[in-house]
Amino acid sequence: MTAALAELAAQLPHLDLRTDAVDLEHYGRDWTRRWTPAPLAIALPTGIADVQAIVRWARRHGVGLVPSGGRTGLSGGAVAARGELVVAFDRMNRVLSFDAVDRTLTVEPGLPLEALQSAARGHGLFYPVDFAARGSCSIGGNIATNAGGIRVIRYGNTREWIAGLKLVDGNGDLLDLNRGLIKNSSGYDLRHLVIGAEGTLGLVVEATIRLTDPPPPSNVMVFAVPRMDALMKVFDACRRRLSLGAFEFFTDRALHHVVAHGAQRPFEGDSPYYVITEFDAADEADQATALEVFEDCAGQGWVDDGVLSQSDAQAAALWRLREGITESLAPHRPYKNDISMRISVIPEFMREMAAVFAHEYPHFDVVWFGHIGDGNLHINVLRPPGLDDAAFVSQCDHVTELLGALLQRVGGSISAEHGIGLVKKPHLGSTRSAAEIDVMRGIKRVLDPGGLFNQGKLFD
Ligand code: MLT
Ligand code: ZN
Repeated sequence: MTAALAELAAQLPHLDLRTDAVDLEHYGRDWTRRWTPAPLAIALPTGIADVQAIVRWARRHGVGLVPSGGRTGLSGGAVAARGELVVAFDRMNRVLSFDAVDRTLTVEPGLPLEALQSAARGHGLFYPVDFAARGSCSIGGNIATNAGGIRVIRYGNTREWIAGLKLVDGNGDLLDLNRGLIKNSSGYDLRHLVIGAEGTLGLVVEATIRLTDPPPPSNVMVFAVPRMDALMKVFDACRRRLSLGAFEFFTDRALHHVVAHGAQRPFEGDSPYYVITEFDAADEADQATALEVFEDCAGQGWVDDGVLSQSDAQAAALWRLREGITESLAPHRPYKNDISMRISVIPEFMREMAAVFAHEYPHFDVVWFGHIGDGNLHINVLRPPGLDDAAFVSQCDHVTELLGALLQRVGGSISAEHGIGLVKKPHLGSTRSAAEIDVMRGIKRVLDPGGLFNQGKLFD
C-alpha cells in the first residue's frame, strides 16, 4: 500500500479499502471491455462523511477519483485505467426515506434501478425509467448518463424524475441541490448540470426521486416492416390512435442474434425490419383499435405481419426480442454507436447512414436497433473473428467520424443515452461546438478545481 493510501486507511479505519488484484480488475472496468483496468485501489464508503473525507484526501494527494455503480456503462465512463481511486457505492445502496405526500423516495446512489422500481411499487407508485440493465445498474450511474431506455417516449429520461441531489464537490463540500422542490426559480439549477455530467463534476451521494401513478394495463405488438421508409409511417399511425408507452425497432440481423440467444421468433417469415410497441389497453375497445391500426398499416403496405400479446407472459416474450439484443451481441464485443436526432429527420438520415455503411462496412455484421420513437438509433458493429482490436476500433472510429458529419448536418447527437466517456471523446466535437466545450471545461474547473473526478472522460 502506498503512503497516501495508508494515510487514508488510518484516517478512516472503518473504510473498506481494497487493493487485491481481483477487486482492481472487477471495479476498474465497465461493459466496454476495451481498457485494461489499473486503479490504485477501491474504496467502498458507507456514508456522506466518508465520501467527503475521501475527496479531501484525494485533493491533498492529487489522486483521481472514479465513481462506480453497476459499471454497466457502454462508453467507458466507469473505467479506472490510470491509477485512480475507485469510489464504489455498493455499500451506499439504501432507500433512506419515502414521502407519501411529495411522492418521493430519497435513496443512496448505489441502489440498483430494479430495487428503486420495486420500492416505488411497494408504496403503490411507479418509477418509470426502465431498460434491460435494470438489475445491475445503479441510480447513481443512471443520473451520471441521464439514462433513457425503453419508455422515454412517455416518461422522458432520468432527468425528469430527479427532484433533488446531494453532491460532494471537488473541495469535499456537500451541495444540496434543489431539495425536492417542484418549483424553484432561484438561480442556476445545478442539479441539472450534474445529471448527465458523467461523474465529472463531483460525487452524487443522495438523490430524491419523484414517483408517479402506476400505468394502466398495457399490451405489446410486434410488426414486421418490409421497408425502411415505412418505419416512421407505422410510428405515426400508432401514435395517432394509441396511447404509446414505448416504440422501438430492430432489424433482421438483431432478430437473428437474439433468437440464436434463446428468444422466440415472432413470425414464420422473415422481414428486414421489426417494430415493437407497448400501448395502454384497458379494455376490449383498445385491443380493437390496435387491430385496426395493424390493418390500416397492412393496407398501406407498411407492415407484412403482426402479433398482439395475449398475456403478460407473451408480452414479456415479445419484449425479450428487443431487450435481449445487447446481451446477445456482447460475445462479439461490438463497437457501439448511440446516436440521436429529431424524429422528423430519421427517414432521410437512415437512408444516408445505410449508404455510408454499405460503402464502409461491406463485410461486417452491422446491427441496427433502438428507441426510434425518441429519435435514438443504436448501431452495433460486430467484430469479425480474426480482426485485431486496434484495427477494428480504428475502422469503426473512422465511420463514426462520417456519422458525426451526417449528424452535424441534421443537428443530431453522437450520444443519445450512453454518454461520451472515453469511447466517444474523440467525437464530442461533432455534437458540441468548441465554445460549448470551453464552457463545460470552465464549469468543471469551478466544481472540481483539483481535476479529480473522472479525469480524461468526456473531454481532456
Ligand atoms: C439498448 O437500448 O438496448 C442499449 O442501450 C443499446 C446497446 O447496447 O448498444
Ligand atoms: Zn438504448
